[in-house]
Amino acid sequence: MCGIVAYVGPRDAAPILLEGLQRLEYRGYDSAGLVVSNKGLKLRKVKGRVADLAAAVPARFKGSLGIGHTRWATHGEPSDVNAHPHLSNDQRIAVVHNGIIENADELRAKLTADGAEFLSETDSEVLAHLIARTVADTATLEEAVRLALKRVVGTYGIAVLDAERPGEVVVARNGSPIVLGIGEKEMFAASDVAALVRYTRQVVHLEDGELAVIKADGFHTFTSDARETAKEPLVVDWDTGHYDTGGYAHYLLKEISEQPDTVARTLRGRIDDRFHIAHLGGLNLTPHETRAFRRVKIIGCGSAYYSGQIGAQLIEELARIPADAEPASEFRYRNPVVEHDTLYVAISQSGETYDTLAAVQELKRKGGRVLGIVNTVGSAIARECAGGIYLHAGPEVSVASTKAFTSTAVAFALLALHFGRVHDLSPADGRRICDGLRRLPGQIEEIIAGGDHIAALASKYADHPSMMFVGRVRGYPVAREGAQKLKEISYVHAEAYPASELKHGPLALIGPETPTVAVVPDDELLDKNLTTLGEIRARGGRVLMVGHREPDAKLADDVILVPKNEPELDPILLGIPLQIFAYHAAVVLDRDVDRPRNLAKSVTVE
Ligand code: AGP
Repeated sequence: MCGIVAYVGPRDAAPILLEGLQRLEYRGYDSAGLVVSNKGLKLRKVKGRVADLAAAVPARFKGSLGIGHTRWATHGEPSDVNAHPHLSNDQRIAVVHNGIIENADELRAKLTADGAEFLSETDSEVLAHLIARTVADTATLEEAVRLALKRVVGTYGIAVLDAERPGEVVVARNGSPIVLGIGEKEMFAASDVAALVRYTRQVVHLEDGELAVIKADGFHTFTSDARETAKEPLVVDWDTGHYDTGGYAHYLLKEISEQPDTVARTLRGRIDDRFHIAHLGGLNLTPHETRAFRRVKIIGCGSAYYSGQIGAQLIEELARIPADAEPASEFRYRNPVVEHDTLYVAISQSGETYDTLAAVQELKRKGGRVLGIVNTVGSAIARECAGGIYLHAGPEVSVASTKAFTSTAVAFALLALHFGRVHDLSPADGRRICDGLRRLPGQIEEIIAGGDHIAALASKYADHPSMMFVGRVRGYPVAREGAQKLKEISYVHAEAYPASELKHGPLALIGPETPTVAVVPDDELLDKNLTTLGEIRARGGRVLMVGHREPDAKLADDVILVPKNEPELDPILLGIPLQIFAYHAAVVLDRDVDRPRNLAKSVTVE
């Protein structure tokens, strides 16, 4: 949600911090700030974007050590004072914080009684006062931070600097990501590798409960009990090009357009034509173990959850193993029954979504076997899982998920093929699915080439205050994701329903003012779906149909035709026009497409 950057080295910190913050702005964006250390702390923080902060930083703002932050408000409105960094009253300690301090009120009361003067309404400011009180009695900043954190209940990723120890920054992680970047005689830290890739590809992810000291000549890590830990650096293959718009008007359009390539990357090296199976080495499951699972339970949040619904459908169809998906945010709180013969699959683009991470941890605590389908290599969820599938879709910057959604559905198709061929899916059906998977990138290209028609339809429908999205069985998760895309970036109210449920209630909403987007694949349910379209039209409802065949003109006002693949794989393609539709609707309505109001790219708080 919020973003953290820290730098220690020979260069001027401020431009590096600003650059890093710019790269992180997609995660949270209501205020920003930075501190550099040079014979005392120099602070600038503003409500607004990183560009506003850059404008507020004077040309001479020297200091080769600093920390910066972009904020997405949780405690206290977006304002200059509530922006991070927060300083102790003696201006010695500066802190930036992601996460939520649950006992902030209690700590604030105690610190106030002890003479601390609070300037902001944030929970984070308690950390600055707390560390300032500990640092006087400890030999090192790391010890002061470690002891101060013992009094904190909640989640945090923090970076701390001390004006009196100008050669180091201390960082800590508990529930909110921190990654170190190793440079040549310089060190970086950030909440996301996006802030680091311009400077280094060598990174080290901290675990929950871990702290690190970074200095120009290296780093060391240790636990909250002061035990040193050994960390192996990881090389990330994402570069700055992934974080540019590449000539597109928005990241979202770029990411939609990349899908022929990103889907090809998700598939690369994973289809075996000899046995018509999928190679998924990262699952760490023997065929014997795979056969032993009686059920698959999929968890994820938002769009990840909807892609999990497509996944559940694929697994049931191809492997005939009962499968279902549930929001991880609900699952973690309902004391789930964890069964030894159920395979759990957690989905996350970022790999850092707190609700999904907490659900995985709860599952592991109860002895569940959890696989991850994750885009971000080395992320917290990927590290927690016993194995899984990386999407290789490249970083997704726009808040609304598109390419990761599609690649997750493709990864599920591979997983379902793998499970199917271990169970009873015939070689002929295995071949049919392998061939279908191979056709996907070209077919996605065809859909994208038809973008102008979809853009025209988006202009036609965008001014309706509300839209209904319907689909049956395979089409239903596609409809849900279509509605999610439209509402999150265009702010048009959109409701998704199984087409079969319309007459059990929501049909009452249908009328000329509420058009329906109907997902109608050419499958065994085609006639049922066409009947639904007739029912909508009979109530004066307008219909935009997304499907494979032109229907009778009476049944739909507009049609988006999508290339046909195998029935099981069709949902992967049917979702793409709905992404394009939502994108153009948001543009027509002049929305902030990549940074929709109230949302953040990765939700690392509860
Ligand atoms: C997608 O458009 C949303 N912004 C959101 O629902 C997202 O998919 C969800 O928060 C899960 O994120 P994750 O995949 O990074 O875990």
